[in-house]
Amino acid sequence: MEQTIRDAALLRTAVGAPVAPPPRLLMGPGPITVDPRVLRAMSAQLVGQYDPAMTAYMSETQALYREVFRTRNEATVLIDGTSRAGIEAALVSLITPGDKVLVPVFGRFGHLLREIAERCGAEVHVREVPWGQVFTLEALEEAVREVRPALVALVQGDTSTTMNQPLEGVGAMCHRYDALLYVDCTASLAGNPFEMDAWEVDAATAGLQKCLGGPSGSSPLSLSPRAVAVVDARRSVEAGLRADPDSEEDTVPQAVRIRSNYFDLGMVLDYWGPKRLNHHTEATTMLYGARECARLVLEEGLEQGIARHRLHGEAMLAGVQGLGLEVYGDVAHKMTNVVAVHIPAVVDGEAVRAEMLHDYGIEIGTSFGPLAGTVWRIGTMGYNARKDAVLVTLASLEQVLRAHGAPVAPGGGTAAAQEVYAR
Ligand SMILES: Cc1ncc(COP(=O)(O)O)c(C=O)c1O
Repeated sequence: MEQTIRDAALLRTAVGAPVAPPPRLLMGPGPITVDPRVLRAMSAQLVGQYDPAMTAYMSETQALYREVFRTRNEATVLIDGTSRAGIEAALVSLITPGDKVLVPVFGRFGHLLREIAERCGAEVHVREVPWGQVFTLEALEEAVREVRPALVALVQGDTSTTMNQPLEGVGAMCHRYDALLYVDCTASLAGNPFEMDAWEVDAATAGLQKCLGGPSGSSPLSLSPRAVAVVDARRSVEAGLRADPDSEEDTVPQAVRIRSNYFDLGMVLDYWGPKRLNHHTEATTMLYGARECARLVLEEGLEQGIARHRLHGEAMLAGVQGLGLEVYGDVAHKMTNVVAVHIPAVVDGEAVRAEMLHDYGIEIGTSFGPLAGTVWRIGTMGYNARKDAVLVTLASLEQVLRAHGAPVAPGGGTAAAQEVYAR
């Protein structure tokens, strides 16, 4: 009965009006306001799955993301799904049940890697540093020497803490111990340096909703030849695609077969590769969006884009300090594109966020787990890594903080940010 009444009300609203979201400036840790060019690309009409126009777009998108990941990896594709889908695809395809996997955890998303690796049947070994810090190369090497994992799964930028794990030397170190290196660069890619080949990263996955300026729903992924060799050893072709579905041809023993069909990178690579062997139906609209995101990055120049994120990130950092807020974590290892600040004791953090949204149309981020209720996270990424977005956020935050009784220096935030821009 209750459901019937509720649904009647929901249906009246939904059938009566198309979506018309309120105007928002999304200054949290992602998703961020989507670049209008990406929205326009995503409104283009569909073509068939094997239309030459579609397969050309797929190949172009692969070439674009090779540039974004800074790699020559042939196996560079999109996984249909949010960033977590890319993570699952990489881990389920690279981990054979029983494999040892080392997960260095420095925030929420390290815990996510651990959980996914466990679900893939790995023998997971975790090393942790306190949230707000990163690992030294020496600490990572010591852990690898002790565990001797088949795979090390590491986050680059952990959005939960804003920390950016240095990766130089990590891949080479892993390879000296015969381990593969997987990196989740969802939050960091295109706003912080990421050098897939130079850093010898074997598998990397990302998402569009952070520095790439798009919506969530597509996960760019790249695999090194070493990682492809692991996938190749587990390759199988779906029964319904074989001439004789009952034959054992093109299948590997059940024990080594990849435990997911949707995320089986062998099948996904056969679909994106010259065989164009049918797997899922590519999410065409997301592909249009992902293609436009990468075009935006490369038109601006990867280095110029990173420099832009650095500039506006520094202005936001100076601005929040200018407001008298205390920055969370090891600032020397902070990502360029997001800053976390301690919520002043005198204010109710959720009430401040609600007022920012209601009165100013600006969203800033909350936090998870041990940081829940203690820090806000403020992003300057993708389309919103802009001077006007930084200044209007700081000016609004100042008003709301004052209204809530926090002692703030008048104009302190915008003045400090302007000093960064004047340098
Ligand atoms: C570092 C990192 N990894 C993974 C994810 C999960 O992404 P999604 O929500 O797109 O699945 C996020 C999302 O914020 C993230 O910041």
